[in-house]
Parts: sequence; structure tokens; C-alpha cells
Amino acid sequence: SASSDIDALIARMTVEEKAGQVTLMAAAWAGGAANALNPTSPSRANFRQQMDDVRRGRIGGVFNGNGAEMARQMQVMATEKSRLKIPLIFAADVIHGFRTVFPMPLAEAGSFDPELAERTARVAAVEATAAGIDWNFAPMVDVARDQRWGRGIEGAGEDVLLSRIMADARVRGFQGRAGLSAPDAMAACAKHFAAYGAAEGGLDYNSVDVSERTLREIYFPPFQAALDADAATIMASFNELSGVPATANHWLLTHVLRDEWRFEGVVVSDYTGDMELIAHGFAADEREAAKLAFLAGVDMSMQSGFYMEHLPGLVKAGEVPMARLDQAVRRVLALKAKLGLFDDPFRRIDSSREKTQVRTPAHLEVARDAARRSIVLLKNEDELLPLPRAGKKIALIGPFVQGQRELVGPWNVYGTDADAIDLLTGMRAVAADPDSIVAVDGSGIEKPIKGGIEAAVAAAQAADIVVLAVGESQKMSGEAQSRTDIVVPAPQMALAEAVAATGKPMVVLLRHGRALALHGAVKDAPAILATWFLGSMSGMATADILFGLASPSARLPCSFPYESGQEPLYYAHKNTGRPNPPGERQAYKAHYREAPNAALYPFGHGLTYGEIVYTAIDMGSGRLAAGGELTVTATLRNSGRYEATEVAQLYVQDITASITRPVRELKAFQRVTLKPGESRTVTFTLKREALLFLGQDMKETVEPGKFRLWVAPSAQAEGVSDMFTLA
Ligand code: IFM
Repeated sequence: SASSDIDALIARMTVEEKAGQVTLMAAAWAGGAANALNPTSPSRANFRQQMDDVRRGRIGGVFNGNGAEMARQMQVMATEKSRLKIPLIFAADVIHGFRTVFPMPLAEAGSFDPELAERTARVAAVEATAAGIDWNFAPMVDVARDQRWGRGIEGAGEDVLLSRIMADARVRGFQGRAGLSAPDAMAACAKHFAAYGAAEGGLDYNSVDVSERTLREIYFPPFQAALDADAATIMASFNELSGVPATANHWLLTHVLRDEWRFEGVVVSDYTGDMELIAHGFAADEREAAKLAFLAGVDMSMQSGFYMEHLPGLVKAGEVPMARLDQAVRRVLALKAKLGLFDDPFRRIDSSREKTQVRTPAHLEVARDAARRSIVLLKNEDELLPLPRAGKKIALIGPFVQGQRELVGPWNVYGTDADAIDLLTGMRAVAADPDSIVAVDGSGIEKPIKGGIEAAVAAAQAADIVVLAVGESQKMSGEAQSRTDIVVPAPQMALAEAVAATGKPMVVLLRHGRALALHGAVKDAPAILATWFLGSMSGMATADILFGLASPSARLPCSFPYESGQEPLYYAHKNTGRPNPPGERQAYKAHYREAPNAALYPFGHGLTYGEIVYTAIDMGSGRLAAGGELTVTATLRNSGRYEATEVAQLYVQDITASITRPVRELKAFQRVTLKPGESRTVTFTLKREALLFLGQDMKETVEPGKFRLWVAPSAQAEGVSDMFTLA
């Protein structure tokens, strides 16, 4: 059997070879094969060195290499020249597509469409495995409630249910449904365990101090969903958790993950996470860092090389039991076996597949569809959108409108802007009269352009309609990109004010990696679309929506504040003892002087070109009995002129409980497509389990009592609502 073969292999390994198996290093050809093969390039020397380490069994896997050919050379070295011939595992960050780039995951979560997320993850796996990748450092499943934190782009936003559903879909997509040994399956890695998104002040890598209840109710459930979907691996997070860094947190990595959740797969550190225990002030030196991380439960060390360096000595000194080393090695070898690497180490290294199965027309069509379904219509006064496809002159203004730049978004190792379609190209392709569209930058992203505003104003004056694209560069969000003020940069605001002053009808397209605080002419524009970073087909998909070839159907996965100072701002907050009635600011009640107690655009918000009215709710007897379910129906009508897809959202508030509960919690949602004039009844089934929380004794409980329930178009909308009783 596979496990006895693995045990037999472990019995033949030296302690150094075991330490090598649990060592993961960045590929020396991260800059691409050309770089590593160029005889004068420094990477050439690195590549030689790394090949030598592979031959000596000092490396178990490499990550973020580029291209099947280099992976093949390294795999030949491992399986033909190393003593035990153990195949390497190739890992990579394939966060939102490989060469075909999909919308950044936060944007895609706004589709509220797990089938879509599974489909894009599947395509990403088909492409990445063709280039030799066995193991993906995704999905990121960190709940993120502070928009100052730039890393939110990789997750599913502020809500626990949506994060769980997207975690499940993405794991299934990456790993496929045919088993991990399929040549186009790649192992998923749920990251970053845990509460990385709760970094104080939204500062990346910062300390986290949240209660065990908050961990278990908010930050853990998406990880549990990923594991329920069979995610093969987990990555420990960089942050400390109430004084103990996650990378050395035995309670987290062993008590919770192994003893409670029975997780059997591999836990990998984040990049140099073990080394960082020294800077955290938790380990005195490298040796102690390696020991603490390893004993806490990190099986594989990424990039520091500390396990290779120190585990043999620690085992020989009796400070780390050999049994623990064998356990970690067994997990790594079992992962390789599941991926089919012992049967055929080259099953995912296939240069011909790499050429034919990457960026295919079918994959690009999925990218276009995903991008369309990720665009959120925030505002549309006087039905300014959709735009007519002919008969109007359009001035396209802003630093994001042309030149194939700022399209694929942060943390995309393999796709490039050069392969993506920009807005001008997309609009000209979709418009009936391409010549009616002119483009002017008007400003840089963070710096003005000399004469830019004048040129933009002249273009606006000569046009009938302005489409203004403003926002963040891709460098302004993602890892290590925290912001204190989540606004559109000043030079672009000056551009927006000047263009708005022409009085031309103006559609604002936001480019952003997070929720933004909108001000001035941008906030006041009659129509606003949140277009995030949409990937390869960005311009086409945006044009489809602008010209009404598709109606917007996405919803915000994170709340847009009025002001940055409201962060962390999320809909599922507690009431406090002094809540303000909505829309009011009473003295000695919780409020800010400068902003309402609400989001400008809340979680779940998003308009369509149709006009959806929520007309009736029915909950039968309104009693949820022990062992029973509550059937909730709501009627929706499209009173607009266009077909529309609505995301009907079911929220609940537990009015009184032994632990205070959020003012609303999302419990279910449904996407429904309605023709103009059509009415539809949506039916939800609410089970008792959906009302569980952790009581004062930290045990799961459901308490009888009164609940308010809404079926609504956003977390802040009334929709239709009623009370029910839990018996
Ligand atoms: O996978 C990533 C992680 O999310 C952040 N640090 C680097 C890792 C490997 O690239």
C-alpha cells in the first residue's frame, strides 16, 4: 500500500534527507528559464546551486518557478541523480488565474456565484499544471474587515458565509473532482492560518489580538470549509495571535487543526515565517526558531532553509523527537503520492500541453464572463447606463483607460498586462462606432501629467458623455500595501473635479484592490461602476457592461465607507449599548462627528439595469420548532426595462442572547434572473444549525427566542422583513 511504501522509504532516509524533504525553496528560475539558462546571469549560478541541493536531497520542493522545461530538468535531477530518487513537488502562487488572468478573488467573490469561482479555479489549474505546478498557494480564505489592509484582494471579503462558500468552491476548482492524481489537479492550500486579516490598524503583518470566540466564529469557519472540501494543505500566517506567533502556535496548529479538526495534510510556513519568530521576539536564534515552528506543527518550512540547517542537529540532541520528523516527512510524501508523483513525476510537466492548453479562446471566454459578473453597479441616476452603442461621442479619461496597464492586478506571477485587453480596445471592439470614442490619460495615478487636465477637459467638452476611470494602481493593494487613507489619489481627484465641471454626463469606473472612500466629483457622479482588477479580459467585460450587452449582477463583498476613519467597517457589527437610530446622530450615542454610522455602499449592495422590488415575505407560522426548519419565501419583481440578475440575501438578527449577536448576519443568498415585468418567488430553508453560536461556556448553542429576518438587496437595505420565533 502507499502508506507502507512511504514507511519503507522513511526507514531508508537519513536524518538529513528527512530535513531536506520538509524544506521548500523559491525556484532559482523564478525570473524565467531564459534568465536561469543565460550563462552570464546570476540566476544561472543559483540554478546550478539549487540543482546540486536537489541532487543531495536537501530540498523537497520548489515554488514559483516559471515554465515546464526548467521543472523538467530539476525533476530529472531529483528522480535520477539523488540517492533516494524522491520526486520534487512544485508549488506556486496561482491566485487568480495563470496565463489567463481572472478577476482578483475579492472581485470575483462579488459574483456571489460559487459555480463561477469553481470554474475559474479549474481553468487556472488546467493551465498551471500544464506548466508543471502540483501545488497552489491558494485559496486565501482570510476574512478581511479592515479595508486599509491591502491583502484583502485575495480573499472573499468581510462576510463569514460568503468566505466559506468561496473557500469551498475554490478548493474544489483547484483540486478538481477527479482526485488529486489527475494530471490537471493541483493541491490547494488554505491560507493564512489564522486571522491574518485581523492585523491591527490594517497594517500588514501586524499583531492580532482577538478572542477565541472571534477566531472560532469569524476567522476559522472558512478554513473549516476548505478542509471539508478536502484542501490538501494549510499555510500558517505571519501574524502573532494574542502573543504567540501563528507559525509557532501549538494551540492553533496542533490542538485545533490536528486534534479537533483531524486535519491530516501538510502545514507549510509562509515565506521565512519561522525566521520571523526571531523578530517577533519569540525565538532567540535560528535554531530555536526552527524548533519552535516544527514542534508547534509546521511540517514544511518555506524559504528560510532553517529546517535543513537545524533539524538534524535538533533531532540528534534529543530536542526534537524523530517521531515528529517522521510524521512531517510522512505528510509531505503522502501529498506527493496523492498527487501521483511517485507513479509519474512528470505527469504535470508537459511542454506541449503548456503550449496548447494555456490562454485558449475557451479560457479567455471564461475570463470575460467572470469579469462581467464581478463588476458592481454602485449607482445609476437617470438610467445614464447602459450607454448607447452608437450616435454619441464618448471621451474616455483617466490613467486606466489605455495602454494595456493596470489590468491584471496584484499578485499575479504568470499573467501580464501585455496580454490583457484595456478599456479603449474593449470599448472600440464592442461599440457600433469605434471612432466615436477618444481616450486621454489626463493624469498619472499618483502624479499629475503636465497639460493633462487641459487635454482631458477639451476632450470632455467635445464629447457627449464622459467615462472617467480613476483609482488605485495595482501596486497600491496586495501584500504589504496598507493605506491610512483609502481614497482616490489627489491628482486624479483634481482631474475628476475639472472634468465634472464641464457638466457632461459622467460615468465613473473605479479601479481598485479594496473598498474605497469616495469623495467629491467621484462620489457625486451620476453613475459609478466598481471594476476592481478584472484580469485578461478587463476591457471587453467592462465594455459589455457599459454598453448593456450584459446587465451588472455582482454585489459588494466588502463595505465602502464614507471615510477611511470608519475602518474597520463591516455590516455584521454589534449594536453597542448606545446605538444610533439609522440616519441619526444623537448626543451620547455611538457615532463619529464626520461620518454617518453606516456604509456609503454596504456589503451586498449592487444595482442592475433592471429595477427589482421586494414585495412580500412569508414565513408560515413564523415558528422554528426543535428539529424543524423555517421555510421563507419572498417575492421579487423586475419593474425595469432590462433583464436583471438579483442576489436576494437572507439576513438574521438574534435579538437577545447570552452572547451579544451582530445586528445582522447573512445566512443564505440566491441569484435570480428576472425578465422585465417578471415576478418570482424565492424560497429559502433556514435550519436551526444556521442560528448556532458559541455560548459563554464556548460550546455551540441555539437559544430559543425572537429573531428578525430580512430578505433584502444589501446588508443595509430593508427589503422585506418579519420576526420569527425559535422554539
Ligand atoms: O503564498 C505566499 C504567501 O501568501 C505570502 N508570502 C509568500 C508566499 C509564497 O509566495
